[in-house]
Amino acid sequence: MKLWGGRFKNNIDEKAFNFNESFSFDKILYEVDILGSIAHIKMLKKQKIINTKSATNILKGLNQILNDIKQKKLSLNDKGAEDIHSFIETKLFSKIGTDAKKLHTARSRNDQVALDLKLYIREKINETIENLSLLLDSINTIIKNHKNTILPGFTHLQKAQPVTLSHHFGAYREMFNRDISRLKDTYKRLNECPLGACALNGTTYNIDRNFTSYELKFNRPTKNSMDSVSDRDFLIEYIFDLSLIMMHLSRLSEEIIIWNSDDYKYITLSDKFSTGSSIMPQKKNPDIAELIRGKTGVVYGSLMSVLSTMKSLPLTYNKDLQELNQTSFSAINNSNSSILLMSEMLKEITFNKEIMKKASNKGFINATDVADYLVKKGVAFRDAHRMVGELVLLCEEKKLTLDELDLKDYNKICKGYVKKDIYENINLLTCIKNRKCIGATGEK
Ligand code: ARG
Repeated sequence: MKLWGGRFKNNIDEKAFNFNESFSFDKILYEVDILGSIAHIKMLKKQKIINTKSATNILKGLNQILNDIKQKKLSLNDKGAEDIHSFIETKLFSKIGTDAKKLHTARSRNDQVALDLKLYIREKINETIENLSLLLDSINTIIKNHKNTILPGFTHLQKAQPVTLSHHFGAYREMFNRDISRLKDTYKRLNECPLGACALNGTTYNIDRNFTSYELKFNRPTKNSMDSVSDRDFLIEYIFDLSLIMMHLSRLSEEIIIWNSDDYKYITLSDKFSTGSSIMPQKKNPDIAELIRGKTGVVYGSLMSVLSTMKSLPLTYNKDLQELNQTSFSAINNSNSSILLMSEMLKEITFNKEIMKKASNKGFINATDVADYLVKKGVAFRDAHRMVGELVLLCEEKKLTLDELDLKDYNKICKGYVKKDIYENINLLTCIKNRKCIGATGEK
């Protein structure tokens, strides 16, 4: 059953139909579409806009269709369907006959699709939050198990100062916690029901928008019908949230790739999350981390795409809006699976503590601590900084670390300020433990 056609003399061109259809990708909205229709029918019945008999008939039909699809008795492969809304209405007509024609009373596909997307994204936000919680579980396990694992902290990808692996992963915990709070914010703003806005300006029927909003667990109905049918902020905001999550995942992936490289060997990836090379037998590649990094670009592309599509749309509904859906769905899937895979991969990583420790002994990463030592003995920081610079130069000439330099050499530059206790003070573990201020690597 076509939803329109009364004012047409000819059928739509086949190519135009295929160009126009959205069923091939919006069929994933089948469940939320049916749930929206169920709430709508209950409201029409309560308001006596349709009679109880028709309403009961329609509700039964809709529930059957939902079951049939879930149990794969009804297939979602239908080349003739224009979109999910017309597909469901057509199936309802074949199931229950003419009562089906009352389903669309006091509704338009414009408020219907806005509703479907909100219901769908609400579910997906919850899924993303759940996935992030799993990821945080994996991160928290690393944090718990590596309180004494020392590795170099980097700036400019150059060894800077020592940190614990716990502290390093604590940084990612902050990022993903912020992501969860951002998603919750998006959910709150999204949670107003557009159903009842109809095509653009509401309806002459005596509908009860509070009722449908409550039935569908929204906080309230949207306030302006024109905004309701043309607003996709909630979708864009969610894709932005996902972009930020992907950015965090991508930074972590980048570190995994570097740490897994032959020159670093800080970690060993599990076979379960690596692949081989078809030509080089020795290879074990970090493909999953690379793909997460790669998909980040794809999700950003989606964000730019939805923003650009929206930017010149006059109020209210325009068919351009349909173009938002496919790219968003793919961004949502890519992001949700990236989070899950990262969470699984982290569980299986081996951290090569000895190699990290050895790496920490190179690169003078306790140089700042030598300067701090001198300051505590009475040298001004800027003078101490210069002295340590010279010490590093001396160490480089002598091919020694700061821990290995003897007191005589120290005091050639440090004018007698350096005593025996220097060695204890610049020991890497001490360097970490002495950083006790809020948020620091040695904080208990
Ligand atoms: N498939 C359409 C979409 O995704 C549904 C809304 C159609 N509305 C319309 N006025 N043609 O946006």
